[in-house]
Amino acid sequence: MGEHIGLLFFSGTGNTQIVTELIQSTLQSKEVIVDIICIEEIVNQNKVVDMDQYSMIGIGYPVYGFKEPRIMKKLTEILPRTKTKDVFIFETAADFISINNNSSQYVIRKLHKKGYNVFYTRIICMGSNFFMKYDDELIKQLYLSALSKVEELCTDVLSRKKRIKTTNFLLRLTTNILHWFEDECLARIFGKSLRVLETCSHCGKCVRNCPSKNIRIKNKKISFKWNCLLCMRCIYNCPKNAIRSRGLSFLILKDGYNIKKIIESSDIKGKYITKDTKGFMKHFQRYFNDSSI
Ligand SMILES: Cc1cc2nc3c(=O)[nH]c(=O)nc-3n(C[C@H](O)[C@H](O)[C@H](O)COP(=O)(O)O)c2cc1C
Repeated sequence: MGEHIGLLFFSGTGNTQIVTELIQSTLQSKEVIVDIICIEEIVNQNKVVDMDQYSMIGIGYPVYGFKEPRIMKKLTEILPRTKTKDVFIFETAADFISINNNSSQYVIRKLHKKGYNVFYTRIICMGSNFFMKYDDELIKQLYLSALSKVEELCTDVLSRKKRIKTTNFLLRLTTNILHWFEDECLARIFGKSLRVLETCSHCGKCVRNCPSKNIRIKNKKISFKWNCLLCMRCIYNCPKNAIRSRGLSFLILKDGYNIKKIIESSDIKGKYITKDTKGFMKHFQRYFNDSSI
């Protein structure tokens, strides 16, 4: 019997969803049956997934504060125990800095305890969706490079190639502290700092779409609670662009973030980094040229 793979993903602003769909279409072109399951449906809507139907599972999420988004903790609690199910983890991030390599450690540990065998991790750079704006040309270039990185990932996982990236103790300790600050302080305070402008039409899109059910609407009044993941989805998807932060607006990209628009635009060619590029972004040359990253 051929492979039947379940891809579980969480995506705040679309990057991880795009990579998940790329993995799906690449695997399908290799005669693999692939189901995509949104992690929010499992965590928030109690969707039950029969893991036994899959020969392998892929789990995808963005890197938040060098580690996993809080929703992944809930997922690892909910997932049923299994007997040696093969799992690969794919993450998306703004950069390929090695400090990001700690982002799968928690998930690997929790899944191992439940009988899953995580044999492969890979970070695909898709650009930054908060704080630091990347040029659209660079985002497109990262997307174009993701096509070949995903192709390689699919070949690797189908042959069960082992690839686990970890960090040393000192980096792990540092990322754990930084992540605690990002997740338990910054994200929650950011959520509570959000307000809607008078232009808000009370359409309820932000309420329906919030992955942590952090936004409420009562008597046409939108309120934000303390459970924000800092995923940025509500802000960039508001039809009236009416959501603002009081005090932490520097985290929000001024012109929003719409990866689909960048990918679909034929004016954006994806030619940002060249061999002559200078400055900070020059380090992406290594990412584009080295297929092992
Ligand atoms: C709260 C937050 C924290 C982030 N932390 C990191 C990080 O530590 N390292 C990194 O490379 N990118 C970081 N990013 C960038 C995202 O990982 C990246 O843009 C990702 O592709 C977004 O995926 P999504 O669109 O599926 O949500 C962060 C983004 C957010 C919103």
